[in-house]
Amino acid sequence: MQFCQYGLQVFIFLLEVIEVFATKEQWTKWSSWSQCSVTCGYGVMKRRRVWETNNNDNQITYEDILECYTEKSCPIDGRWSFWGPWNSCTKYCGGGNRTRYRECNNPTPQFDGKYCEGKNFEDAECNKWECPQLPPNFNISQCNDTTFMCYNKLQCVPKHDKCDDSLQCHDGSDEADCDYFFDALNSASTHETRWSAYVMLLPGLFYIWFYL
Ligand SMILES: *[C@@H]1O[C@H](CO)[C@@H](O)[C@H](O)[C@H]1NC(C)=O
Ligand SMILES: *[C@@H]1O[C@H](CO)[C@@H](O)[C@H](O)[C@H]1NC(C)=O
Ligand SMILES: *[C@@H]1O[C@H](CO)[C@@H](O)[C@H](O)[C@H]1NC(C)=O
Repeated sequence: MQFCQYGLQVFIFLLEVIEVFATKEQWTKWSSWSQCSVTCGYGVMKRRRVWETNNNDNQITYEDILECYTEKSCPIDGRWSFWGPWNSCTKYCGGGNRTRYRECNNPTPQFDGKYCEGKNFEDAECNKWECPQLPPNFNISQCNDTTFMCYNKLQCVPKHDKCDDSLQCHDGSDEADCDYFFDALNSASTHETRWSAYVMLLPGLFYIWFYL
């Protein structure tokens, strides 16, 4: 009885083997591995085999995929950082220059990557307003304890005009070496900011006046 059972299985197996040989359907050998798909960083390599049949339409391709590393890092191109702050104006009036800088470090170029394109600095004209006029007939005897001698020594102005956020000296020196930067205070945006701060205060003041 048992022999009969196994005998049948062996018989069916033999039939299958004969069928395979008869139809010549079989896997081809694996192809060799392809080259890595990239020349830097991580890629893949493949090999394949094909289920061959008499009928070409029924071919099945089976692919093996492996990750490969080229042992060479891909180039990283440099990019600019954000602009730094403007430095102070070179003049107090009559049009000066101010400059701001950026660095090629966001990221820094690496592995033969390109350096950032363009300049690492930018110039802009600043403090374009006219300078105060020089007094026509200056005489040093016009200066005394109550006056400030402008750095150009061609003018004396009242001492209380020193660092009052408004220019009197032709060279702007009455606003030099103050505890603020004159060009920063006088830039339009700062005045607008101050102005809008006052405007925003008004509703608050009204509220207090109404309800208290
Ligand atoms: C401002 O900078 C520009 C460009 O760097 C230069 O041509 C110009 O003469 C400068 N002006 C002043 C007032 O320094
Ligand atoms: C300056 O003023 C003094 C006194 O007022 C006078 O003696 C002198 O000649 C003046 N100097 C000039 C260069 O005008
Ligand atoms: C100092 O000089 C100013 C301007 O020249 C003048 O108005 C003032 O009277 C002078 N003060 C004194 C104490 O000499």
